[in-house]
Amino acid sequence: MGGLAKIRRHHVVSLVVAIGLCITAVECTKHVSIKNSLGSGKNMSLHCQSKDNDLGQQNIENGNEFGWDFSDNVFGSTLFFCDLGWQNVEHYHFDAYSFGRDRVRCDGAGCSWLVSAEGIYGFNGQTGFWEFMFQWPN
Ligand SMILES: *[C@@H]1O[C@H](CO)[C@@H](O)[C@H](O)[C@H]1NC(C)=O
Repeated sequence: MGGLAKIRRHHVVSLVVAIGLCITAVECTKHVSIKNSLGSGKNMSLHCQSKDNDLGQQNIENGNEFGWDFSDNVFGSTLFFCDLGWQNVEHYHFDAYSFGRDRVRCDGAGCSWLVSAEGIYGFNGQTGFWEFMFQWPN
């Protein structure tokens, strides 16, 4: 009896590890942050959401950031997308977290973004470098 229970538990753990899901609550919690680095006096409007959560319309002043915590769903389809606007760009749509793109790139911790006058930088948790990810449309 004890042996069977042990085998079952071992198999469940192997399966969870094999498909790359987190096991403890700490590992499961991720954080996305989006920081306004547009320059003095420049506000940014931001509206982020997923299929299930609307994080609301935000006005973020230069130097401030907006962030939230979440956990990946078990289907591996977690997606948060945002609509952003500022003085020079009326409307820009981008994915702030997409499981397929970011699970490894953001090193399992979530994703950090820096919104600048040139475009949007994303932090690569694998390399430890900020990468230029999105250029504003002309
Ligand atoms: C930026 O946002 C702040 C806070 O809502 C507001 O007081 C300020 O007038 C805004 N600045 C501009 C340039 O819109």
